[in-house]
Amino acid sequence: MRRTFDVIVLGSGISGLTAAIILREKGLNVVVVTKEKEIAETNTNRAQGGIIAKKNGDSFADLRDDILKAGGGYNRIDAVELLAEKGPGFVFDFLIDKIGVDFSKTAGGELDYTEEAAHSTRRVLHYEDRTGDKIERKLIAYCQKIGVEILTEFTAVDLITNEHHSDDIQELYEEREVMGVYALNNASGEVFTFFSHHVILATGGIGNLYQHTTNLPSATGDGLSMAYRAGAEIINAEFVQFHPTSFFHKDIKRFLISESLRGEGARLVNSSGEEFMINYAPNLKDLAPRDVVSRAIYEEMGKVGAEYMLLEIAPFYQGSEPLKKRFSKIHETCLKGGIDISKEAIPIVPAAHYFCGGVKVDLKGRSSLKNLYAIGEVSCTGVHGANRLASTSLLEGLLWAKFTADEITEKERKINKNRFAKIPDWQEPEHIEDFDPLLLVQDWKAIQMTMWNYAGIIRTQKGLMRAKADLEYYSHRIFKFYKTARLDKTIIELRNAVINASIIVNAALRNTKSSGCHFIK
Ligand code: SIN
Repeated sequence: MRRTFDVIVLGSGISGLTAAIILREKGLNVVVVTKEKEIAETNTNRAQGGIIAKKNGDSFADLRDDILKAGGGYNRIDAVELLAEKGPGFVFDFLIDKIGVDFSKTAGGELDYTEEAAHSTRRVLHYEDRTGDKIERKLIAYCQKIGVEILTEFTAVDLITNEHHSDDIQELYEEREVMGVYALNNASGEVFTFFSHHVILATGGIGNLYQHTTNLPSATGDGLSMAYRAGAEIINAEFVQFHPTSFFHKDIKRFLISESLRGEGARLVNSSGEEFMINYAPNLKDLAPRDVVSRAIYEEMGKVGAEYMLLEIAPFYQGSEPLKKRFSKIHETCLKGGIDISKEAIPIVPAAHYFCGGVKVDLKGRSSLKNLYAIGEVSCTGVHGANRLASTSLLEGLLWAKFTADEITEKERKINKNRFAKIPDWQEPEHIEDFDPLLLVQDWKAIQMTMWNYAGIIRTQKGLMRAKADLEYYSHRIFKFYKTARLDKTIIELRNAVINASIIVNAALRNTKSSGCHFIK
């Protein structure tokens, strides 16, 4: 099946849906493609803490400085300034006034601002601890209202480029450009050829490459890997941010325990009940930047060989709403694991949370490849530098979606359809071999352990060298297998994961200096 669109958006989180809405309202033929059954199955949906948006009582300079400080001087300064200047206002204009997102309010009916680590003021809007879920659902409803086409259960396999795929030899001598996407229909197993004049990657992060993560299982960095194979520039890949607090429970998959708990007073304690952040960050203590807090927890765990540390909220809570309402999702989830956060401390471990690197883009979301854009976590705008400040990611995704959609509509250019005609359909391998799904499970576990142990919170050159060698071995095996396999979502994700793991490890080996969330011992 062959179809042509003006714009293909891969991914249905805050950035993908926002870009699609703006493009659709400008009259473009846009499609959103997601590999999931549910449109809302995104990392956006899991975001708890909130989104920065304060009109009064905050300033451009304070926000800029907080982001730069957390980012360890690795940030792109004009990108940070753009976000600090335009971001908060756009939350009001677009999310609140247009899309109708209602954030939590105080008893007096004012917007309730929460605090998170390394922020110099309370500037984070939230909806209880379900901010992402609230935003995602409102965006989906708006997309449906204006008729944005959304294809679920289509897994992107590869970007189509003139140089890699055209049957016309002359294309080899032209500038490389992206012309669409090969995408697998998960249900039928058919690979569709989707052409478009522009492709926007909004595919999210890579958390699932690690043994412990706050991300959803399909956060495998598909867009990153596709862009890499197509030849786009990738930067800052060594900067993988670990969230200090995810729920530790033997029967429940790691679950984010929002930083806003510490913003509302919660404190970290070790197995003897002693507060320990004072020993690692005497001034900011529990509200020190994430990289500092994650390493402190990791070291405390190492000292006594503990599997987890504890977070106490009940005795210290300072929020205006009742604790069970303010943190309704966390309360509900912990209770399933037998922990009542209004009475007991929460067992926590750090977990891979956010990828600060990605496909290098400019202030308009343009990658180094013609017609290819990237927004949200898959992109690297330079805003986050070496370590992201809490609650900047939804904002960055939202804002760069706008910049990218504006750029596409302003400079609308079309690829001649005769050039699309020279692109062949997807070729299946001649000999397809059946595979044992257990082998895939084993490969996944091996990648996740390798990344957790050698490319995690505290890294060493030796460990990274070991990771590189192990990943080369896994890659060899996975690529060989990929060439003869009948394509399905799992195999595509595994191939992407091993490529991305190598991108991260190679970047970490190249950068021998510790900075932000890349910490070399
Ligand atoms: C959190 O709620 O702690 C996560 C917020 C973020 O990662 O920005």
